[in-house]
Parts: sequence; C-alpha cells; structure tokens
Amino acid sequence: MPHFPQAFPDTRMRRLRQHEWVRSLVRENRLAPADLIWSMVVHDGAEARIPVPSMPGVFRLSPEAAAAEARRARALGIPALAIFPHIDPAKKDARGSEANNPDGLVARSIRAIKDAVPDIGVVCDVALDPFTDHGHDGLLEGNVIPNDATVECLVAQALMQARAGADVIAPSDMMDGRVGAIRRALDQAGHENVMLLAYSAKYASGFYGPYRDAIGSAKALRGDKKTYQMDPANGDEGLREAALDLAEGADMIMVKPGLPYLDMVWRIKHAFGVPVVVFQVSGEYAMMKAAAANGWLDGPRVMMESLTCFRRAGADAIISYWAPEAAEILAGS
Ligand code: PBG
Repeated sequence: MPHFPQAFPDTRMRRLRQHEWVRSLVRENRLAPADLIWSMVVHDGAEARIPVPSMPGVFRLSPEAAAAEARRARALGIPALAIFPHIDPAKKDARGSEANNPDGLVARSIRAIKDAVPDIGVVCDVALDPFTDHGHDGLLEGNVIPNDATVECLVAQALMQARAGADVIAPSDMMDGRVGAIRRALDQAGHENVMLLAYSAKYASGFYGPYRDAIGSAKALRGDKKTYQMDPANGDEGLREAALDLAEGADMIMVKPGLPYLDMVWRIKHAFGVPVVVFQVSGEYAMMKAAAANGWLDGPRVMMESLTCFRRAGADAIISYWAPEAAEILAGS
C-alpha cells in the first residue's frame, strides 16, 4: 500500500461513491458469467428433474436434462459445468466400483453434455463417496481409510472420466499423492491435455450437509472425514497442501468451502500466483436460500455480494449452484 498524506477534509472518501457511474469507474473487481462454473447434480433415475429439498432451486438432473442445462449455460456465457452424481443406492458397494463404469451415470452425463455443447468445459469430481455404501471418499478398512489403496481406485476413476470426455479432473478426496498418480496415469494413457483442478485446501466442513443429501451419501456416511479433510483451524497447512499438489502437476487449486475460507483463497493466490478456484458449497447456498425464503435476507443481493467477494479475495473462478441465476442477473445489468 503506497503511503501518501491523506486527511479530511481534503480527502473525502465519499466523493467517489456519489453516483453509480463513478462507482463503476473505480470498481476494483468484477464478476462475469465467464468466471462461473455451474455445479450440477445428475442422477440415474427415470425423472428428468427431482428437486433437492435442502437446496431450493437445485434439481437432480437426468443426463438429458443436464445436456439441456448445458445449452442454457452456453447461452448465458457460463464456460464450464461441474457434475456430481447421485446414483441408485443398489449400485453402491464398499469399493465404490460403479465409479469406474464406462457406461455409468458420470460417463453418460459427460457424453450427453458434450454432444449437446461440444465447447463447454466439463469438470468431474474424483472421490468415491457418491459410489460407496459407507459414504467415504476412499476405501474403508475397519475404521481406517487406506491412502495408497484408495489412490489406485481414484486413478481408475479419473481414467474413466478422461476417456468419457471430461476436460478437467478434480480430485476432491484429499488422499496424499493422488494428484501425481492421476497425472502420470493420464499422461501414460495419452490424456496429457486433460487438466487437473486439485482440491488442495478442502476442509472437514459442516457446510457440505445439503450436498450429501443431494447425492444421497448423508445417510450412508459412517463417522466423519476428519482423517483426510483438513481441520478448519489450519491455514499454513493449506499452503503445504497447495505446494504439494502443484509439485505433483495440479493446473489449478481449489479452496473449499468458500465464504468462511476467503483467507485461504487470498493466501494461496498470493503465495503461488496460480489459478485459484473457490467452491461456494451446498451449505452456503442453502443458508442464503433459507434466509431469503423467510424474508430475512435479500437472496439475489447476498448471493451476488458473496460471489463478488470471492473475486476480491483473489479467486479466478467460482463453482456455484447459483451460477445460472447469477449469470441471468449479470446479463440483465
Ligand atoms: C466429496 C465432495 C463433497 C462435496 C463435493 N465433493 C462433500 C464431502 O466432502 O463430503 C461438497 C460439495 C458441496 O457441499 O456443495 N467428494
């Protein structure tokens, strides 16, 4: 911050706030549809759209409905979608085998979206929790999530996603060494241009509650995820995670959740100068929607405000369930 004498009354900070035109001229950060990644839940049921009760306005979509939404995203200028699967519980097992199914829900959704809109980016989550009957992101041996055995499963899952046409592989599982293992496997299979978005600073957070409803893992989850996701009290550790993931080949770094972790967005952006993506998670969405439904908050206003604050904190892109609504508002303004 440059230092020069500033004192009232010569300096009046309110001068530059008098009119929208001047506020617009001095605005430091902007939000555009081009900054958004639309977080989307897909399902393998018969219905085109099923509402997610804890996330008003969010639906579990069939692959065809997701493809239709991809057209809408394209029209709104949203460059990419991130898809999260809700599968038939009968297909879940202890090893999350369905995660590798080349004709499973994720592969079918990628293909449907890419057929509809070839030039939209598709981001795929790598983790076993939508597919395991115990709801953990990895394998479960007794009470332990074995790291290296899980990484082998994640590599298989990532390869399936790349073959199906995913552009960005986003490991959200928080196992050690998985970014490097996935990078090597992708390269060996000729997918050297598939991008890696590493969930580096991913916290063991209560804000994921509605998501676990949305993908049907809430009832399944035994215990918690504290042996692999980060302690919300830790900041330096998030920098170490990001450094390791970058060394292993991550192209972009994710911070998750969003709003309570803006310091991590800022710190990682400034420490490494790499693209940082922030995830406005299900609980953030649900809180604001619930308060708005009660008339306690102006929903669109607080949503736009929080998305803008992610940009101010240094995020290049934001994953949000609210992306289409934000893009509609931005188009109208
Ligand atoms: C897990 C995963 C989670 C989310 C995305 N991938 C939740 C979890 O760790 O339990 C959360 C997304 C959200 O809350 O919106 N692999």
